[in-house]
Amino acid sequence: MKRLAIALVLLASTATAVADDRFESIQNVWPTCAGCHGQQGQGMASFPALAGKDADYIISALLQYKNKEQRGPMSALMYGQAQMLTEAQIGTIGVFIQETLDKPSN
Ligand code: HEC
Repeated sequence: MKRLAIALVLLASTATAVADDRFESIQNVWPTCAGCHGQQGQGMASFPALAGKDADYIISALLQYKNKEQRGPMSALMYGQAQMLTEAQIGTIGVFIQETLDKPSN
């Protein structure tokens, strides 16, 4: 029983470490995004939902904003956001959104 408990603790800490490593470069960035897009990327008022969108979609949108391209009526709000990200961070955010945010139920 004791051995099982230790094994479970080890398992849990390994899983957390892997997740932390993969998304480390955006850990300080996501809270800003979440300020508009919602903690779970669910969207808020006129800020679009990010949850449920795949990595390719997110990445290409962020690259367009980084190049100051117009996508929607409020693209200008995203130019500064995308510009502070490196391309590597943009890739990581795409995967983070695709893999860790749940699709909204509606
Ligand atoms: C000040 C509020 C604000 C912040 C902060 C913000 N966004 Fe946005 N975001 C918006 C708005 C508004 C739009 C819609 C822009 C348009 O009309 O093209 C948008 C659009 C997007 C889109 C395209 C969504 C779609 O469905 O096409 C992505 C992807 C995105 N944001 C990711 C991010 C990420 C990642 C961050 C953090 C680095 C971030 N946003 C920070 C307001 C914000």
